[in-house]
Amino acid sequence: MQTISNILSQALTIASKQAGYNETLTATPCAIESMGDYQCVDAMKLAKIYHKKPFEIASEIISFLQNKAIKSASITGGYINIVLDDKFLSDYVPKYIEEVDNIVKKNVESKKIIVDYGGANVAKPLHVGHLRSANIGESIKRICKYVGCDTLGDVHLGDWGLQMGMVISEIKRLHPDLPYFAENYTGEYPKQSPVTIKDLETLYPQASKRAKENEDYMKEAKQITYDLQHGHRGYFALWKHILDVSVADLKKNYNQLNVHFDLWLGESDTRGSYDDVINFFVKNNYAYESEGALIVDIKEDTDTKEIPPFMLKKSDGSVLYSTTDLATLIDRYKKYNAQKVIYVVDNRQELHFVSLFRVAKKYHLVPESMELTFAGFGTMNGKDGKPYKTRDGGVMKLEDLINEVKSSASQKSTDNDVLDAVAISALKFADLSILRTKDYVFDPDKFCSFEGKTGPYLLYTLTRAKSIIRKVGTIDGAFDASLCDKKLLLTLINFCNMVIESYKQLSPNILCDYAYTLANDFNSFYTKTSIIGEKNLNKKYSMYKQTIFVINILQKIFDLLAIKPLEKM
Ligand code: ARG
Repeated sequence: MQTISNILSQALTIASKQAGYNETLTATPCAIESMGDYQCVDAMKLAKIYHKKPFEIASEIISFLQNKAIKSASITGGYINIVLDDKFLSDYVPKYIEEVDNIVKKNVESKKIIVDYGGANVAKPLHVGHLRSANIGESIKRICKYVGCDTLGDVHLGDWGLQMGMVISEIKRLHPDLPYFAENYTGEYPKQSPVTIKDLETLYPQASKRAKENEDYMKEAKQITYDLQHGHRGYFALWKHILDVSVADLKKNYNQLNVHFDLWLGESDTRGSYDDVINFFVKNNYAYESEGALIVDIKEDTDTKEIPPFMLKKSDGSVLYSTTDLATLIDRYKKYNAQKVIYVVDNRQELHFVSLFRVAKKYHLVPESMELTFAGFGTMNGKDGKPYKTRDGGVMKLEDLINEVKSSASQKSTDNDVLDAVAISALKFADLSILRTKDYVFDPDKFCSFEGKTGPYLLYTLTRAKSIIRKVGTIDGAFDASLCDKKLLLTLINFCNMVIESYKQLSPNILCDYAYTLANDFNSFYTKTSIIGEKNLNKKYSMYKQTIFVINILQKIFDLLAIKPLEKM
């Protein structure tokens, strides 16, 4: 089974060959409804090559054009407009809906992919940027899986940097008697964590403030980071507690957003391998010291702007973000055989990734054929144009954010489950539906609305369709496309193209736009007709089936966007 675009493109290509032109033609859905269902604009292209009028070429092509999918073809200017055959559609649409998953897979080359998203930092609060990464990344991962790629999502925790040294030094300041800090301690460390998640919420901000004000404190935090990275028993045991407490809390947060990682790896998982990576650069004389730090040149002659060197070690001897990212990338190639890695990270980190990809390829640490993609995203801002914050200017926690959105939605329902679903769909859909690379202003009232391009509008449309089906009950008949809403039918069979496009561009917003169009088409069909009151049984059955198709496709989209639908609202 193929998409309509493929069927028509093939028919057009054959017809153009018969007319004496040796080019591949393509058909796409017609932008203007009154012109036809599908359209081919390639006669313009042929006109340039063959020095003829587009109209002449188009006329020659349609004189040969023949396919059971086509009812009629006409020409406007040089465009070939195609109207689809109803009998063909009556047979095609139900099969398409049934086989949609396979059609998509058949049109995409399968690859082993790792999606790096989430990127939460242990012991530091999740901020709105991390939420956007989680939402977009989860959807990209699901899209990759859906098109048939063997895909793993990795949270890539920030768990090996200076913030760990800072938190440990703050715990040391407050509780110097804990065994983790006793110099010659050789016994076992306590099984119970000395800190809770509540403690962690205040420990990092306190430590960070103190480090800014006090040089010695910062020095100690750096020393602790160095010692932790070089096998200090006590710090490592304490670090493990902090990690476990943090991860348990993160899992709760991510669960609420319906975000689920296949791999819970982090920077620290490269602690057994980054020394080898560093040695590789040192042994081959690729790395050199500069102001105490160990760096590698990655400049190229063709560079038009300054590309700073890649840093492997800081002047205090500790490894950093870039080191662990390089070691992680090598692991992804060697241990996971990844052919493609997609990094879903804030736009502001683009240079870091450009450097990472360069160093890995330039020194042949991963093969040239490995696809390394930075899927950057813009910031979610408040109305003041700055990253979304709490009212008092603090970092917005997920829980508080959800509560804030819920209060915006509070007039919409009295049912707490419904409110939760409305708030989360509003939040997620906002992150997903805006062009990935763009900053946007988060306005809880606007995004909670049941009208317009919002999560709640889609939730509502899906539950409405489901409730119609419940009311109609089960009925039997023959599906007849000529008795359906044509516009809605055409939108339905455009699903595969839209998923494939959102995969190619790593852009869930394409799917969101499509879902919005589908919901609009469905709602306008629904307001024009009454399935329940319809007397013509064939028509009733066809409209009923069409509604079921809408439910099927919308549910797939909800799943790809990782938004949980509701049965009733
Ligand atoms: N932890 C990082 C941050 O908060 C994001 C990690 C992104 N992924 C990566 N492989 N560097 O900025």
